[in-house]
Amino acid sequence: MTTRDSFSSQFGVLVAVAGSAVGLGNFWRFPYMVGTYGGAAFILVYLLFVALLLPIMYSEFVIGRRSQSNAYGAFKALAPGTQWKGIGTLSVVASFAILSFYCVVGGWTIEYIVQAVTGKFSANSASLEQTFENFTTSSFRPILWHLLFVGSCSVIVVAGIKNGIEKYTKVLMPVLLLMIIFLAIRSLFLPGASKGVAFLFNPDFSKITGESLLAAMGQAFFSLSLGMGCIVTYASYVKKEDNIMKLGLGSGMADLGFALLASLAIMPAVFAFGISPAEGPGLVFIILPRIFSQLPFGSLFASVFFVSLFIAAVTSGISLIEVITAYATEELKLSRKSSVIITFVIVAIFGSLSSLSQGVLKDFTLFGKGFFDMFDYLSSNILLPLGGLLIVIFTGWVLKKGVVKDELSSGGRYNVPIFGVIMFVIKYIAPIAITLIFLSSLGLLKIF
Ligand code: PHE
Repeated sequence: MTTRDSFSSQFGVLVAVAGSAVGLGNFWRFPYMVGTYGGAAFILVYLLFVALLLPIMYSEFVIGRRSQSNAYGAFKALAPGTQWKGIGTLSVVASFAILSFYCVVGGWTIEYIVQAVTGKFSANSASLEQTFENFTTSSFRPILWHLLFVGSCSVIVVAGIKNGIEKYTKVLMPVLLLMIIFLAIRSLFLPGASKGVAFLFNPDFSKITGESLLAAMGQAFFSLSLGMGCIVTYASYVKKEDNIMKLGLGSGMADLGFALLASLAIMPAVFAFGISPAEGPGLVFIILPRIFSQLPFGSLFASVFFVSLFIAAVTSGISLIEVITAYATEELKLSRKSSVIITFVIVAIFGSLSSLSQGVLKDFTLFGKGFFDMFDYLSSNILLPLGGLLIVIFTGWVLKKGVVKDELSSGGRYNVPIFGVIMFVIKYIAPIAITLIFLSSLGLLKIF
């Protein structure tokens, strides 16, 4: 038997997991949600949910590292002869669903890099809205960029864990950190920036509503890459002596740190230019280009921003492709190369459909939604919460407590502080909380 590929160092694991977590969720979704749901109060609630979901992150680390297997094989190994391996099937389906819209937005970042570098942004927001609309609804260019995006991720995944994923994320993540710090500093020194800072850090508790609570929890799930076998898969390449408690906490904090830095890069600028922060999903693609166009060296800052967005999206895209690749190589016995090629072809087809659903296929709907929205809805609102729920139930109620403790302490090498609290959250709090958001996001329960 050939030995399984693995990460070569703890730092390698940290940047790879953080790379998966830090993505469009942090740079595009988080800032506009903060803007929409009232700033600092939303951030506080979000912090609470990150703390609540960290035990799920630990659960996924436990399952992956213990089994040393892909998301399907992991449950097969830990609960032989049971149906728990269905979580693995769910993970593969969720990966395809997320890739099918995520890579389209990944493609948009390439278009915006090209526009930024060629200095195409004008100060006229109407025309920027038109530019965004014209581009996303057209047929050819978005698909071309989409394919380029999936291709870039595929090339990295084909090279393997050590020589692909770890090698690239080790370089890309520090670059990403420097770029976003650079942008945050630029933004903070704009005249009028302080209003944006106050918006981010002075909570107005009357802004907390049922809807913002649910939005914060969904965002935490998506942003931490939880509930779909991604962390299980990466953890299966972690060495027995690595400290997974530290790694889980470290990647969770990195994800949070990037989300806050992204907001610091965006909000002060938004306020400095007197724009409403509640612009929704267009914030990054419509509002930011307008801001950049009014700044000295705006093209440079715009290029840095959209390159950052692209890097963040790639390091997440590869983790999604790896979930499928690990499954296909280990369960279906395909070679790594064929697995990635097949994944590429399937994502190319579904991604193209979802890209076209912004334009020519607009009227073609399933369950009342176009392809793009359907993939987004299906993954964030159904597959991730369902996967997350099953994972905590599995860890809390099926795995033996001793196994969880042994894994979290890496075979007794490290202390596991607050083990009792972690187990309590895994067994009771997380399943109940997830069930509530799950039901309410399906519209089956009105909690607030
Ligand atoms: N966490 C990623 C982001 O914030 C998205 C993602 C979700 C990646 C699930 C992998 C798994 O962009």
